[in-house]
Amino acid sequence: MRKDVRILLVGEPKVGKTSLIMSLVSEEFPTVVPYRAEEITIPADVTPERVPTHIVDYSEAEQTDEQLFQEISKANVICIVYSVNNKTSIEKVTSHWLPLINDNTDKDSRVPLILVGNKSDLVEHSSMETILPIMNRHSEIETCVECSAKNLKNISELFYYAQKAVLHPTGPLYCPEKKN
Ligand code: GTP
Ligand code: MG
Repeated sequence: MRKDVRILLVGEPKVGKTSLIMSLVSEEFPTVVPYRAEEITIPADVTPERVPTHIVDYSEAEQTDEQLFQEISKANVICIVYSVNNKTSIEKVTSHWLPLINDNTDKDSRVPLILVGNKSDLVEHSSMETILPIMNRHSEIETCVECSAKNLKNISELFYYAQKAVLHPTGPLYCPEKKN
C-alpha cells in the first residue's frame, strides 16, 4: 500500500491553480488569493481513497525554475492546468509543460498527468475538441477534466481523479512507441 499521494499543480500564470486549491479546501471561491497556496495535507480519513494527500501549488511569481523542477520530480501526479477561455494557456500545454515535465521525471517511473481546463463558467463550449488530440498523442496523460473554481464545478472530482491516477493507474491501453 502507498504511504501518501503528492499532487502538483502547474500551468501558465492566472489560469487559476491557487483558486482551485483554495476552493477545494474552503468549499467556496476565494475572491483574493496569494500567488502560491501553502502546501496542504488532507488526512487519510477524509479522502476518497483513504490515503494522506498533499496538494502542492506552483507560481512562477514566487518560485525559481530549479524549485519547479524539484517539485516535478517529487510529484506522484501532475495536474497541468489551463484556462478554457485562454488559447495560449492550452497551446503552452504541448509547447512548454509536457516537454518540461518529461525532462524532469524519471523515464522508468511513469508519472500520470491530468489536463485540467479551469474557468468553465466563462464559456459555453467545451475545450475537449482541442484537448482530445493532445491526449491521444501523449500516453502519459491519464485523463482530462473541465472545472470551475468559481462555481465549484468538478473540483472534488479533479482531486479524486488525481488520487486515483496514482493508486489505480490504468496505464496506456496502446503505446505506439512500444509495438511488439
Ligand atoms: P499564478 O499564481 O500567477 O500562476 O496564477 P494562478 O494560476 O494561481 O491563478 P489564480 O488562482 O491566482 O487566479 C487568477 C485569476 O483568475 C483570479 O482573478 C481568479 O479569481 C480568477 N479565477 C480563478 N479560477 C476561476 C474560475 O474558475 N472562473 C473564473 N471566472 N475566474 C477564475
Ligand atoms: Mg497561484
